Amino acid sequence: MLKFPDGISIVGTGSYVPDKIVSNFDLEKMVDTTDEWITTRTGIQERRIAQASEAASDLALKAGSIALKQAGIAAKEVDLLIVATQSPDYQLPSTAAVIQPKLGLKNAVCFDISAACSGAIYALIMAESLMKTCNYNTAMIIGTDVLSKSVDWSDRSTCVLFGDGAGAIVLKMNIKGRNLISFDWGSDGSGVDFLKIPAGGSRNPILASNIDQNQQYLKMDGKKVYKHATDMMYHSVLRALNQAQLKKNNIDLLIPHQANIRILKTVAKKLSLPQDKIMINLDKYGNTAAASIPIALDEAIVQGKIQSGDIVVLTAFGAGLTWGSIILCW
Ligand code: ACO
Repeated sequence: MLKFPDGISIVGTGSYVPDKIVSNFDLEKMVDTTDEWITTRTGIQERRIAQASEAASDLALKAGSIALKQAGIAAKEVDLLIVATQSPDYQLPSTAAVIQPKLGLKNAVCFDISAACSGAIYALIMAESLMKTCNYNTAMIIGTDVLSKSVDWSDRSTCVLFGDGAGAIVLKMNIKGRNLISFDWGSDGSGVDFLKIPAGGSRNPILASNIDQNQQYLKMDGKKVYKHATDMMYHSVLRALNQAQLKKNNIDLLIPHQANIRILKTVAKKLSLPQDKIMINLDKYGNTAAASIPIALDEAIVQGKIQSGDIVVLTAFGAGLTWGSIILCW
């Protein structure tokens, strides 16, 4: 039931990160932290930060146009655009609606989804489902986040973790190779308080009283997220492999959500995977939330880490809590 039908393929990817690099040494000048603490606890060495004028859609447009070009697809062919983001341009309308005319996706149905760092996985699963039920031939998903604008730059426990970026993936029906073959996804709202931006929604609108208490910024119980993350990704990968009738030792490349090197290494150990079978780029970008998986996939392709016939596993966890995994046969 959870298997994808034959022939939904990834035909193009693209990614974009802002030019501005903020290193751990730069952060040492801003908060009470050290490069040594950040590197050993997270694996992150630097992150990209958007300009004041750059919004999530600006990053997404750059990633999306690269993905379209790489796929060799005209913008008007795209039937569906799903944008995963936790840092939309506006509360209303969707960031997908902002992107649509600028990318020229005039025939696409466009909407956003909110699944935090699992957003790109959720978007891929939803795109597949809609391609099947609505008979769409071509879809694009974009994960884009500018969490630097939601981070409290005086809070050392969160500001060192995140970076900005966008990644896009183009899907096409009835193409051989690079196929999505199975998936697993899930949610557990009992973890809703572990990671949240308290103000800015209908619960706590942007009012001076909330801003005075810094409620517009991201708050995280890092230990609770950490504890759940390894279990969520590990079990989700096993379930997705099982759906595809594959085993741990069939994995050629694991592309996990880039949150923390210790989480990634623990998941890889549980899956008995050597380090050269895990895609890691968090040292350069930090946690780019919904953009993390599509950026890592794009870089893995560009760096020649994926060969025809490889079994590639995408897996993520995020606020909500949410999680999801996808098995690809390249
Ligand atoms: N520099 C120096 N010291 C720091 C820093 C910092 N940047 N941040 C925290 N500390 C201190 C703490 O204050 C604490 O000091 P204390 O012992 O005097 O109280 C000490 O370091 C240890 O802090 P811990 O929180 O116990 O550190 P831990 O080893 O758990 O690492 C971390 C913290 C990196 C946040 C870890 O818990 C983690 O990675 N959690 C998962 C977070 C995550 O993945 N979030 C993304 C979710 S995806 C999404 O949906 C956006």
